[in-house]
Amino acid sequence: MEIRRAEIRDFAGMQHANLSNLPENYQMKYYLYHALTWPQLSYVAVNPDGKIVGYVLAKMDEEPKDGKKNGHITSLSVLRTYRRLGLAEKLMKQSQRAMAESFGAEYVSLHVRKSNRAALALYRDTLGFTVKEIEKGYYADKEDAYSMFMDLTDLN
Ligand code: ACO
Repeated sequence: MEIRRAEIRDFAGMQHANLSNLPENYQMKYYLYHALTWPQLSYVAVNPDGKIVGYVLAKMDEEPKDGKKNGHITSLSVLRTYRRLGLAEKLMKQSQRAMAESFGAEYVSLHVRKSNRAALALYRDTLGFTVKEIEKGYYADKEDAYSMFMDLTDLN
């Protein structure tokens, strides 16, 4: 499986993976905005037939409240039959490295549903994120989110 930077030709495949896996969906222009503004930060996993089987869509925080440069994971998913192969871990690490190297990010943040055990295990146990706070009713269906972050200063 190849991991490479997301390009405009990948957006349809990314959107398909997003729609198959998550209730948080985005218009095509939002993908385009990410790719045009921070082309270094979003990645895709591609199978040998050229099909997009996973992606990470990421950006920089444009108005950091704490004044520190930081990256944000907008969305991550891997198609069901390609899970537990380490693809999400690789996608995340590529994006995190680029946040630090290309934009001087001091940390990376994300939101995840409290009930999402797989993603929580990935973020907390595999990658080393910590929970900053619980955001009550963050999602459209009112589920709470864990707001998580991870220091990237080692990568700068
Ligand atoms: N249960 C427990 N731990 C898990 C699970 C699981 N189902 N999936 C991953 N992990 C942990 C494990 O520690 C795993 O290491 P191991 O396989 O050696 O035990 C580690 O994470 C790395 O797993 P990967 O293989 O890299 O993860 P994968 O490619 O399967 O993708 C993902 C994980 C993205 C959460 C996938 O399950 C998915 O697409 N889920 C649906 C969409 C989703 O929930 N996305 C995240 C939403 S939050 C956001 O987008 C910011």
